[in-house]
Amino acid sequence: MILLTGATGYIGSHTWLALDAAAMPVVGIDDFSNSSPEVLRRLAALGADVSRFAQVDVTDRAALAEVFERWPIEAVVHFAAKKAVGESVARPLLYYANNVGGTIALAETMRAHGCRRIVFSSTATVYGQPRSLPVREDAALEPSSPYASTKLMSENILRDVERSDPAWRIALLRYFNPVGAHPSGTIGEDPRGTPNNLMPFVAQVAVGKRARLQVFGSDYETADGSGVRDYLHVQDLAEGHVAALKHLLGGGDSLTLNLGTGQGVSVLELVRAFERASGRPVPYEIAPRRPGDVAAYYADPALAERLLGWKARLGLDAMCADSWRWQAANPDGYAGS
Ligand code: UD1
Repeated sequence: MILLTGATGYIGSHTWLALDAAAMPVVGIDDFSNSSPEVLRRLAALGADVSRFAQVDVTDRAALAEVFERWPIEAVVHFAAKKAVGESVARPLLYYANNVGGTIALAETMRAHGCRRIVFSSTATVYGQPRSLPVREDAALEPSSPYASTKLMSENILRDVERSDPAWRIALLRYFNPVGAHPSGTIGEDPRGTPNNLMPFVAQVAVGKRARLQVFGSDYETADGSGVRDYLHVQDLAEGHVAALKHLLGGGDSLTLNLGTGQGVSVLELVRAFERASGRPVPYEIAPRRPGDVAAYYADPALAERLLGWKARLGLDAMCADSWRWQAANPDGYAGS
């Protein structure tokens, strides 16, 4: 069985479905600190087996040990973490305790139970300000926020664990910008409060929950002056985890991979694509740059294709259409049900 930590979160829930479809039985844990039990009902309605779930905080060693004693866990996909960059600047200790502490508690529990396969949810922000584009996995690592530092530290901890015991195999997956939702429109991203990220904010403007988008910066050195990112459909991202797990369980070596499309999309391009997909206007105003933002970054995803045979299939129109389907059907997220 595959243990998913953060199983009811945005990426965790989509990965749960993808593993289920690949006939890989899932054990899910989540503390619901940033997700809802309603996700389990939605997953079940989509046909997933959610019979193995426990409400567990990933820093709680005793609770983790119980999970490993109760179910035979072959491998872990570790999503559970706090992920808001701004909050990590204001509350760094919370981020280090939860994200680094969670990785350590999990790896210790795995070791104690003879489980040595892990796929780790990392982020492209470990690269910081990119020196050249597209960003390859061997680019300089210069995390520029406590959040990014917690992810890089967790990567390094897992690498050191493998050095100390070469029987471990780890896949470090550095995501670019995950967006979109399951095509059913029944599971998706449900940020609490004001969304920090672009796509959920745009979706909330289109559905009428917010008056207008602020476009953070129009004077970047990009084609239209707005920021450029590599948006990646969460369904493709979920498939990336399945591919990484199959690789590790099939005896493959440890890996560090970018998961992205390789395509840069500007804020204004995304707004136009969302208007097309939703048939709704997305009013916006130009605002100052957001501190800490980079002009442009996008992945070189070639290594993931070479080593895993994984490649993003879904483009910007599908990302917008699926985000819209989720938003339109669930204007208040899971709380509305
Ligand atoms: C952010 C995080 C990053 C995290 C990623 C997850 C920061 C600095 N970085 O990346 O650590 O891994 O989300 O997806 O927070 N934008 C607007 N208006 C908005 C919101 C965003 O114009 O209301 C612009 C941004 O300036 C940027 C683009 O949209 O150019 C994407 O922003 P966002 O979705 O927050 O992602 P990142 O900044 O790439």
